Amino acid sequence: MTAVAERSGLKLGVVGKGGVGKTTVSGLLCRAFAGQGRRVVAIDTDSNPNLGLSLGLSLQDTEAVPELPRALVVGAAGSRAAGELIQEYGRDTPAGPVLLSAIRVAEAGAGCTCGGHATVRSLLADALDEVDVALVDMEAGLEHLSRSGGTLAHADLLLVVCEPTRKSVLTAARTAALAAELGIPHVLAVGNKARNTEDAEFLRTALVAEGLTVAGVLPYADDVAAADRAGTVGLQPVDADVESAVQEVLTCVDEVLARE
Ligand SMILES: Nc1ncnc2c1ncn2[C@@H]1O[C@H](COP(=O)(O)OP(=O)(O)O)[C@@H](O)[C@H]1O
Ligand SMILES: [Mg+2]
Repeated sequence: MTAVAERSGLKLGVVGKGGVGKTTVSGLLCRAFAGQGRRVVAIDTDSNPNLGLSLGLSLQDTEAVPELPRALVVGAAGSRAAGELIQEYGRDTPAGPVLLSAIRVAEAGAGCTCGGHATVRSLLADALDEVDVALVDMEAGLEHLSRSGGTLAHADLLLVVCEPTRKSVLTAARTAALAAELGIPHVLAVGNKARNTEDAEFLRTALVAEGLTVAGVLPYADDVAAADRAGTVGLQPVDADVESAVQEVLTCVDEVLARE
């Protein structure tokens, strides 16, 4: 077992520009952590939740995951323990992790989602003794990092997903700066959708130039895209090169946290 595997209550946030692959990468990382025999809780904060699909649930089952109560204070200061909440609102997925759905906007004009974010923040602040890894798939946008009391304030480490475009790299750099302000101890970049060595090289060079450490670069994989279209992305084994990039990210997370 690695140092990370021995560490309990690891709290990760996955962020980045819209469409870069946050949910796909979140699903792959959660599967990989679960594959190491770790208890994983995957938390979807997208107002249009679809992390369940990346963990092998059908659309119907993804939509049936109950929304966490809003504005809840979890832990000693609040009314519910994290474990209780996971028990009641979590749903097992075919990929292994337990899925929580924090935010759902079911109708137009249904109001802001701050209450859902507050619950996730509180959940991460609690000890989360019952799980080895809690991973939050964040909705796109920087406001939940910049707002005082950001959702991920209690995360140990942020993974910024980035595709091979200049805009995506700039978003990653801004995100990393906000994360530092919020007091998140570690930020790593994850390149995604690299179609060739030029893309991979661009990602590594441009991210490092922005002061970011690159945990790994996932290739663009036709089978990931096809499985996404077929709704089976959380079930199928992934290409060896995708899997090895995912393992590279896990190892990097391990090394960064072991240095603490
Ligand atoms: N490594 C990859 N290879 C191929 N397609 C990918 C890869 N990562 C993500 N995608 C595709 O990109 C699109 C956006 O991915 P998604 O994970 O939903 O992004 P986000 O959560 O950041 O909005 C999806 O169609 C997904 O299948
Ligand atoms: Mg998403």
